[in-house]
Amino acid sequence: MNNAVAGFSKLSKDEKINWIAKEYFSNTEGAIAIIKNYWNTNDKIQKLHDEFIENTISNFYIPLGVAPNFLINGKFSTIPMAIEESSVVAAAAKSAKFWSTRGGFKTTVINTEKIGQVHFIFKGDESKLALFFAQTKTKFFTQTESITKNMQKRGGGILDIVLHDKTFLLPHYFQLHATFETKDSMGANFINSCLEQFAKTLKEEALTYDLFSDEEKGIEVVMSILSNYVPNCIVRAEVSCPIEALSEKHIIDPKAFAERFVRAVQIAEVEPFRAVTHNKGIMNGIDAVVLATGNDFRAVEAGIHAYASRNGTYSSLSHAKIENGIFTFWLEVPLALGTVGGLTSLHPLVKLSLEMLENPSAKELMQFVAVAGLAQNFAALRSLTTTGIQDGHMKMHLNNILNQFEANEEERVLIKKHFKENVVSHSAVVDFIENLRKPI
Ligand code: MEV
Repeated sequence: MNNAVAGFSKLSKDEKINWIAKEYFSNTEGAIAIIKNYWNTNDKIQKLHDEFIENTISNFYIPLGVAPNFLINGKFSTIPMAIEESSVVAAAAKSAKFWSTRGGFKTTVINTEKIGQVHFIFKGDESKLALFFAQTKTKFFTQTESITKNMQKRGGGILDIVLHDKTFLLPHYFQLHATFETKDSMGANFINSCLEQFAKTLKEEALTYDLFSDEEKGIEVVMSILSNYVPNCIVRAEVSCPIEALSEKHIIDPKAFAERFVRAVQIAEVEPFRAVTHNKGIMNGIDAVVLATGNDFRAVEAGIHAYASRNGTYSSLSHAKIENGIFTFWLEVPLALGTVGGLTSLHPLVKLSLEMLENPSAKELMQFVAVAGLAQNFAALRSLTTTGIQDGHMKMHLNNILNQFEANEEERVLIKKHFKENVVSHSAVVDFIENLRKPI
């Protein structure tokens, strides 16, 4: 049985590593060596990583790849992607190249509104609460002026605050539901600071409101927090071309391909089991760019999946149609992103990724991210509806298997040559390696 530890966060980094190594690993020295192998040799960079979180013992690397040739609204970009899954960057690059000769990606930011809520309990007359809110509403704006001043200079701020009666869901449950414009910042700190001030104003003003009884004056604020569900912060990405223009190596009959592709999207629109996997493919692209640009992929994931369920059934985020001989494929997703604040100015690779994208505004970043999602979805559906996914996937995965078996250069050449012509499966590769290694 392992032991509990007191005051762990106060130990030095080496002390923490030694404790973990002794507590959990039979090969203590081996574990310490692995942990330290991933330390950055540049002390300044390592210190930066150490201080991102508590109890850092090492760095957990995932590759940063790039997908070039993205023609977006008439301009070429290279998109940085941080992801461990073998085929994702290759698929994005393939889609980018495919669409670069067919008009490219078109994107539009539909809206950029963020949301935050103060959840509170009010035991009393609801109409009195409504009157109180109407009479004190301006105070919520004036009392947050010191927080909103800078954001207003950048063209953002609090858009509106509305009182929501939620007593049909929970007894005595109400909300202040506020909407915000946060320009190039994701806005979490700004929104949460405003909300905490709203909560203070709410409680203080209620205490001195003459029409309230003593019980009504005792408003209980449960919590004040932004919402990661942002259904009015939407970006759209689209590709389209005449059906005949779809033809290429794997698309011999473009009409049949377009029809099957549309059918595949329709299945994801109506069938949740398929929709989840379909959207997972979209998130392969979205998360990779969100991560590379230092944004919060958990927030993005939560918000997007909620959006995919907004009509009561989990459904596809992308759509496709054929009209008048034109194939159109598009995606609409909520994305609350930032290009200033947070990790964006701290992490050198995040700064580099943003510079590669020519230091986009948050709105521009929303467009890159949506395009990466659509490109990924296109690549997945193209494979699924033509050659099947395993062909490309396993070819990309081959390297992982070779690394797992520590294949040497000579073996790699022979194995890659063989599997250029043959179906790659884990067992087929293992058999081939074992055969190669059999003593003659
Ligand atoms: C794998 O990471 C993603 C796919 O399963 C997506 C899809 O099925 O559409 C290939």
